[in-house]
Amino acid sequence: MYRTHTCGELRADNIGESVTLSGWVQKIRNLGGMTFIDLRDRYGISQLVFDENIEKDLQSKLETLGREFVIQVSGEVIERASKNKKIATGEIEIAVNALEILNKSEVPPFTIEENTDGGDELRMKYRYLDLRRSCVKENLVLRHRIGHLVRNYLDTQNFIEVETPMLIKSTPEGARDFVVPSRMNPGTFYALPQSPQVFKQLLMVSGFDRYYQIVKCFRDEDLRADRQPEFTQIDCEMSFVEQEDVLNLFEGMTKHLFQEVRNVKLDKFPRMPWSEAMDKYGSDKPDIRFGMEFVELTDVAKGKDFAIFDNAAYIGAICAPACAKYTRKQLDKLTDFVKRPQVGAKGLVYVKYNEDGSFKSSVDKFYSADDLKIFADNCNAKPGDLLLILVGDDKRKAQEQLCELRLEMGNQLGLRDKNVFAPLWVVDFPLLEWNEDMNRFQAMHHPFTSPKSEDFSLIDTNPGDVRANAYDLVINGVEIGGGSIRIFDKDIQAKMFELLGFSKEQAEAQFGFLMNAFKYGAPPHGGVAFGFDRLVSMFAGLDTIRDVIAFPKNNSGRDVMIESPSPIAKEQLDELYLEQKEIDNL
Ligand code: AMO
Repeated sequence: MYRTHTCGELRADNIGESVTLSGWVQKIRNLGGMTFIDLRDRYGISQLVFDENIEKDLQSKLETLGREFVIQVSGEVIERASKNKKIATGEIEIAVNALEILNKSEVPPFTIEENTDGGDELRMKYRYLDLRRSCVKENLVLRHRIGHLVRNYLDTQNFIEVETPMLIKSTPEGARDFVVPSRMNPGTFYALPQSPQVFKQLLMVSGFDRYYQIVKCFRDEDLRADRQPEFTQIDCEMSFVEQEDVLNLFEGMTKHLFQEVRNVKLDKFPRMPWSEAMDKYGSDKPDIRFGMEFVELTDVAKGKDFAIFDNAAYIGAICAPACAKYTRKQLDKLTDFVKRPQVGAKGLVYVKYNEDGSFKSSVDKFYSADDLKIFADNCNAKPGDLLLILVGDDKRKAQEQLCELRLEMGNQLGLRDKNVFAPLWVVDFPLLEWNEDMNRFQAMHHPFTSPKSEDFSLIDTNPGDVRANAYDLVINGVEIGGGSIRIFDKDIQAKMFELLGFSKEQAEAQFGFLMNAFKYGAPPHGGVAFGFDRLVSMFAGLDTIRDVIAFPKNNSGRDVMIESPSPIAKEQLDELYLEQKEIDNL
């Protein structure tokens, strides 16, 4: 038997027992003849003690030990002389009388402890070692737990998990596909699913009624902290539902998770139309942990010979509470912030509403104190507050820039506490968005999302104004999930493809199977998909989803541990009817 207990299990109650433990040597300390070892396994750390009078044989084995050796020890649980309150096993130690080396280890490339000296890339290369660190491992344990809670919850709600294929068909909508060449069908390719969207809809046609799947999805898009090329969705679909039904059910699931995982009781989630989110926060995923909502000054700020304002399509302000005391240096830093290419504003106008009621602004040449008081009143500012104003030729662009500034101010003022959770349903998204490059509309969510019936009459005249039965769940400014009520009528689906610029033949070739299925009694249906990695990283209080994925890709989409992607042999290429092109200047 390798062990009687785990390394995280023993307590004062076990004092006097003979035990056997197995694990990894985390740390060896030699103190005046006594040797202490931290022995680690998945469950925790137990301290081993070897006193100076141990047998020769044991002593010589002890001397060969190094960090990360796998050992088995037997001994007696004794009370520690100096207790460690920080760890659960801190009251006891094991006085070792037998030691077996199960496997040796080379010196690891970085310290495998809570605080490590290993940089990001190194730890990614040796991810299996990084996963031994309890802070990293805990994220995966949490992931497992949340997955388990989700499965149980959905099971109680009559959902059944159905697996859908991983080798599917490439479609022109959405992000880029990862494709897989088919050896048996020369010159043709599968695509890996960006989501199981059409399959879950087909399952509704099959009558499954309530489907879910915790499923890998693949998207060949630029990576960010909250994006990986392969990621996991909690993907769901329901029949005979309206938007409210879907929102209520998944609000219930989210609340249940918060209660179980964080012991947080959430109130009813607010709902905000997309247009309001854009106007107040310049984002379809606003962080509503704090206010600082936008105030449009376009009408009141013009007409004072200040060309930048007079020529602007949009003038927007945020009011930063109690920030009138900001120094020149702080304001310059904010100006630099908005001018960074990632934000892209041309400049920043400030108005200080001083404690004594006076004003100081960067536009004093054009605006009197009375004029500035009008700005302040519009923004509901109080003495001591600071107005920050951005302008732009393009309203949406200026609002997006103001959004970045608002979030930065939220950070600076400590208003984005990771332990405060502010969920929000953003609803009434536009059905379509204009794509400049392609000179045509594209689906804002996806081509299967239904238009709002009250807007349907606009579909030929003003397609851009048609709203969709689409919704996103946003928590603390992160898009956790999104979904919609679907089109289930084949003629409306055909109309949608037409709006998206598909010819009848193209629509037939790409999605004929779905329109065909709709001929045979498709029920009304809708659903949602949550980003599982994002959900877990939010619960873990992390900034990147990488930390909740066992073997993630780096920012260039590479797995530096297995060194993938990688070239393949000529024979393999030949078998797949592929040719290796010369790749210059990469
Ligand atoms: P959508 O494209 O909004 O909807 O995706 C659903 C959720 O998946 C997460 N997500 C990602 N997470 C990590 N890395 C990525 N690259 C990534 N891309 C998306 C987000 C997002 O909210 N089929 C529809 C859902 C539906 O209509 O039911 C879909 O995939 O959290």
